[in-house]
Amino acid sequence: MVEPNLSSVNGALHAIRAGKLVAIPTETVYGLGADASNSEAVQQIYELKGRPADHPLIVHVQSPLDENKTREEEWLAILSPWTRHIPESALILIKHFWPGPLTLVFEKSKSVLDCVTGGQATVAIRSPAHPLTQELLRRFGGGIAAPSANRYGRISPTSAGDVQSEFPNHPDLLILDGGPCEHGIESTILDVSGEGSPKLLRPGSISPTMIKKATGIDVVSNSRTAKQPRVSGTHLAHYAPHTALYLYSQSEIELPLAQLISQLPKAQLAVLVWEQEHIHHSEVLKAYRNNLTFIPITMDPISFARQLYRLLRDLDQGQYQGIFIPNPPNTEAWDAVRDRLQRASFGSGPSSNNHVSN
Ligand code: TXA
Ligand code: MG
Repeated sequence: MVEPNLSSVNGALHAIRAGKLVAIPTETVYGLGADASNSEAVQQIYELKGRPADHPLIVHVQSPLDENKTREEEWLAILSPWTRHIPESALILIKHFWPGPLTLVFEKSKSVLDCVTGGQATVAIRSPAHPLTQELLRRFGGGIAAPSANRYGRISPTSAGDVQSEFPNHPDLLILDGGPCEHGIESTILDVSGEGSPKLLRPGSISPTMIKKATGIDVVSNSRTAKQPRVSGTHLAHYAPHTALYLYSQSEIELPLAQLISQLPKAQLAVLVWEQEHIHHSEVLKAYRNNLTFIPITMDPISFARQLYRLLRDLDQGQYQGIFIPNPPNTEAWDAVRDRLQRASFGSGPSSNNHVSN
């Protein structure tokens, strides 16, 4: 693999100021950053990612330096260029969870560029917890607009090398190497722009229950109350590998395996199995043993999330024709992982570019 074009905070700062793109490390995934007040710079993000212009970006902002100072006033000053109105509940969320893996959607202020918000009246903001990116943001003083640093519809990168392999034709893209990402999946997104309780737009490692416990704030979440996974809409296919990905339940794994192998008798299939559980090796599975590689995976949702995109990238190098992953338990702790797996499975396979995704 080509060595990433690694950059120091100094180099990244110069590039951002000069209107260039820089891949930035965060605690969730790597972002593809540009000066959020420079429309030509932001435009390059869309071009490099191949992302439609109406898909809004997250503006990343610094956090106050001195934890003990009047933090509320400092947060208000940091946010004032971006949002017209900060509801009381949002300020409480910020005090508890920023810097961290939580994105808040606010009413935007007039000066925020349309290319950042996709022309919407709202803007998504978060203060990431990674020390290198915090240093960059503090020295820059402005906001950095950044989506995940993957090509449109593909798996988000969780290391500097992953960013490089997403954009092999752009060896000059600067990458600020902050090591592997701590959380491994994208931030939780809450809409705080409307009346009433914050609404969950994307599950992440900060769950509604954690928010309720820490702040007393109720979050409106459709994904928990809906009986079926959300299967409609245009944003379903994200985070997709090239290799076809199937979610299976323990009792029903044989049928999809048999179907695939009947079409492709030589297929090599990766079958992930919970490390604590033994998959029942029926006669059918024994008959397919030359086709199957069993890979144990953790039953801890936090570790699973941290490893997920790394694992999908490793299994997506062309050595397998199918990846089978067990359906995660239907509990809130698994919501973020289940969401990513469902999208990955929907958009997976060689022809997945037809699907709409981020
Ligand atoms: O963890 C993360 O959030 C990473 C790191 C780099 O910060 N970023 C990330 O960005 O995942 P991206 O662009 O891949 O996903 C951002 C999501 C998109 O689904 C977008 O539609 C949504 O945020 N979003 C952005 N602005 C919005 C807005 N004004 N209203 C509603 N959703 C918005
Ligand atoms: Mg993304």
